[in-house]
Amino acid sequence: MGRTPDILSTDAPDATRLALEALARGELVALPTETVYGLAADARNDRAVAQIYAAKGRPGFNPLIAHVDGCDMAERLVELSPLAMRLVEAFWPGPLTIVAPRRADAGVSPIAAAGLDTLAVRAPAHETTRGVISAFGAPLVAPSANPSGRLSPTCARHVVDGFQGRDGPTLVLDAGPSSVGVESTIVLVNGDDAVLLRPGGLSREVIEGVLGRSLPARRDGAVIDAPGQLASHYAPAARLRLEATAPRDDEAFLAFGETPQRRFQENLSLSRDLNEAAANLFEMLWRLDALVAANGLAGIAVAPVPATGLGLAINDRLARAAAPRTL
Ligand code: TXA
Ligand code: MG
Repeated sequence: MGRTPDILSTDAPDATRLALEALARGELVALPTETVYGLAADARNDRAVAQIYAAKGRPGFNPLIAHVDGCDMAERLVELSPLAMRLVEAFWPGPLTIVAPRRADAGVSPIAAAGLDTLAVRAPAHETTRGVISAFGAPLVAPSANPSGRLSPTCARHVVDGFQGRDGPTLVLDAGPSSVGVESTIVLVNGDDAVLLRPGGLSREVIEGVLGRSLPARRDGAVIDAPGQLASHYAPAARLRLEATAPRDDEAFLAFGETPQRRFQENLSLSRDLNEAAANLFEMLWRLDALVAANGLAGIAVAPVPATGLGLAINDRLARAAAPRTL
């Protein structure tokens, strides 16, 4: 119960081979992606997929993303309409997940699809991880490698710390910090219709540029298309106070842009660069969370962040982190 995983650099010569062997045994392997680290398992293996839910404490109604090495593997799993193909060709490999009608013979464990007739697919950009999927020759399901409802992992240490005392991954491939830092953007594509289900590491504006029209977001309270979009998510232990222009005396501060130097402060981006801020977001929340606990502070005050570009995903994650805990 809760054995500490082996951690291996992706530069190690046997990293890919050891990951493949563990996956073939039905074990969970934490793999780096450009967005966040994923907790991967053989998508066809019911027992391994069930182990992901157990390890994360993830509700069974919340489906997983099938990670593929590209378009061909994706097309064996889902029906990609011409519109979906356009998005995939423009943005894969990269931080875009497409939800599309699942093929009857997809071969993915029904547990991973959570009973839906759609399936989420994504080709991650990290070279080693894509190599593992290619060599495995089958999709890997991989949610973010964190216990459900906790901060997402953007480095190997977050993964190891998060699963302490749980039956998590047996192996973590370490590629250093994730370059994008927030999860993939999820777009539901049904024929010629596209809807934004989760803002993420690919900005809405960039997708709209390829679509040549606006990308509507799923209305809150509408049919639950992304069951994982529970209000409280990405929660640090500390209480968050958003849109704070300055911290109170008993708060840590997550700043954005030039600001007076204070104790217990991290700065998402001095130059107000939203890509840099996204890459820093989870690591800085992890650090401030520890500072709040160690110093008996009241919580974390968070500076306003514009909701354009990756700022949309940043604000989404902050709002969920600040929401009342429902799980
Ligand atoms: O960047 C990412 O997407 C990362 C890395 C590891 O690839 N993965 C990730 O997975 O964020 P996860 O499980 O933490 O989030 C997947 C989200 C959940 O909100 C889930 O509800 C939604 O995708 N989802 C999965 N399948 C779906 C489907 N068929 N329809 C609607 N939403 C779906
Ligand atoms: Mg997650």
